[in-house]
Amino acid sequence: MAKELFEIGEIPPVGEVPERMHAQLVRPDRYGEPEKSIQDEVIDVPAIGPGEALVMVMAAGVNFNNVWAARGVPIDVTKTQARWGEPTDFHIVGSDASGLVYAVGDGVSNVSVGDRVVVHAGQWDPDDPWVLAGKDPGLAASFRVWGYDTCWGSFAQFTKVQAHQCLPKAGRLTWEEAAAPTLTGSTAYRMLHGWPPHTVEEGDVVLVWGGSGGLGSLAIQLVTLAGGKAVAVVSSEEKGEYCKRLGAVGYVDRRDFSHWGVPPRWDSPEWKDWFEGAKAFGKAVWDVLGERRSPRIVFEHPAQDTIPTSIFVCDRGGMVVICAGTSGYDTMVDVRYLWYLQKRYQGSHLFNDEQAAAFNDLVRDGQIQTTLGHTYPYEDTGHIHQLMADGKLPEGNVAVLVNAPSIGLTDLP
Ligand SMILES: NC(=O)c1ccc[n+]([C@@H]2O[C@H](COP(=O)([O-])OP(=O)(O)OC[C@H]3O[C@@H](n4cnc5c(N)ncnc54)[C@H](OP(=O)(O)O)[C@@H]3O)[C@@H](O)[C@H]2O)c1
Repeated sequence: MAKELFEIGEIPPVGEVPERMHAQLVRPDRYGEPEKSIQDEVIDVPAIGPGEALVMVMAAGVNFNNVWAARGVPIDVTKTQARWGEPTDFHIVGSDASGLVYAVGDGVSNVSVGDRVVVHAGQWDPDDPWVLAGKDPGLAASFRVWGYDTCWGSFAQFTKVQAHQCLPKAGRLTWEEAAAPTLTGSTAYRMLHGWPPHTVEEGDVVLVWGGSGGLGSLAIQLVTLAGGKAVAVVSSEEKGEYCKRLGAVGYVDRRDFSHWGVPPRWDSPEWKDWFEGAKAFGKAVWDVLGERRSPRIVFEHPAQDTIPTSIFVCDRGGMVVICAGTSGYDTMVDVRYLWYLQKRYQGSHLFNDEQAAAFNDLVRDGQIQTTLGHTYPYEDTGHIHQLMADGKLPEGNVAVLVNAPSIGLTDLP
């Protein structure tokens, strides 16, 4: 008789799906700081439907969206899930995974039971008229982030996904190395390659905020691979040196400046101080480059503290592309810099199948280092997300072992 529940690290025979599983989940009645909000519980393994796959998770990648989910802000994720007919009393965190396919639903042809995969986080309704018309699913009204807008995230022994989310895992990588970079890397890929004509090209200067972070460490490599010149922004020398090792031409330490946040009104005397700060920051970028060239692309995500500076330093005809508001949402744009120098201010969110596959191919080819900083055991899930929330995570991406039995195990024979 099939076993009902396996312990963490105990791998069921391939294709044998137990009834119950361990999962790190949040519930609306305990939303708050991740350390307390994210807890291990035993729940039913979800059933899969047509076009879906059940993946036995070996390792899960840590992303900032799990912190937002744990806090229940800016949205209560269980309310979003309700839209897709999913449970409303809990939410399993996690939007990055590596693992093995244990079951597939009707009509699935891209993966089979036993395949070793990584999972990208883009989901959408396959019957969405926008998708059926062949348009970018990343812009579809039904677009959602698996493990954030949906219930069955990666910090569980099994995760339910749409089969198109599964991509082949790079055989040379350990499970934890493979689990970490897909969400941030594919997001960075769309930001840098998905908004023509502002795609990164040979010789382009790209300013990368948070260069040593999850997004930034991969953005630097993507810029460098495309022949561009990445200038990182960081908050310590160690982080700056790390960015240089990834390919950045240099870095600016943001601790040397104090003009952050929403600037004073343009007609107030205080505005001049902000202006001097922004100019000095732009000069620091020139100093790194050794020439007076401004960034053609500014890779943004801190937002409230940095957008006015990003818009100011971006080159004439360049683009500020933004995917988050880590330091706050109430930012401000001095439109003089936008219209007069004809700059573009572009939002970007996750990616589509092609962009995720293109990034994954670079990882499989060994052209992108996965920048895994640290790996932690499953029991530490809440604690790690607390470290992330407090800005205390080490450089690079972070992964958690779920069913993978030990750190450093690749799937090579
Ligand atoms: N929409 C999407 O598709 C998408 C996808 C992935 C991630 N995100 C979001 O993007 C954000 C960054 O993700 P991540 O994985 O890169 O996080 P991360 O690993 O924590 O890195 C963020 C970096 O931002 C820098 N930073 C933090 N506060 C700052 C501030 N006030 N001013 C300037 N820089 C600041 C920090 O670098 P220094 O201290 O060294 O400067 C930090 O290393 C998160 O909010 C995440 O939710 C969005």
